[in-house]
Amino acid sequence: MERSWILLGMMGAGKSSVGRALAELSGREFFDTDLLLQHKLGRPIPQIFELYGEQAFRDHESSILRSLQPGQTVLATGGGIVCRDENWIEMRRLGATVYLKAERTTLLSRLEKSKKKRPLLADDDWQERLHALLDKRLPQYERADLVVDVDDVSIEEAAERVRSALGDL
Ligand code: S3P
Repeated sequence: MERSWILLGMMGAGKSSVGRALAELSGREFFDTDLLLQHKLGRPIPQIFELYGEQAFRDHESSILRSLQPGQTVLATGGGIVCRDENWIEMRRLGATVYLKAERTTLLSRLEKSKKKRPLLADDDWQERLHALLDKRLPQYERADLVVDVDDVSIEEAAERVRSALGDL
């Protein structure tokens, strides 16, 4: 049976960019839950949070997952997708989950440079917020089928690492 490759990890871990590179390298189609959600609602993520709130965002995120079918695809996800058990049921149905693991210092420096707007990190205390979110989410990320370290590697190297790790699964 076809299995999708699903990338998990914190904001700043590189799920979308590594996902695109991985899709290219493996000849798979690329999907991204955040992009699908934005497309579904016709608004950017920060606006969705602002207008409807986080719970509604999470409900849409879960409904996007439910709508997908397993296949020759790479799926990048939003960093908080791991927090609902129902999402794990869907992700296990879709395929193999890979946690892109990065040190806190790596995440902080990437997020500092990132242009992407992230509503959960929009305030001045965003660094403390990131630590708190990561503390809470770490056990969830660890549920992934595979863990791949993405510190100090290029996007292409990270994609190679994921592909070879998935080959062993
Ligand atoms: C979120 C991560 C974001 C996006 C939303 C919420 C989170 O995606 O889904 O802002 O809860 O970690 P990225 O992980 O791609 O930044």
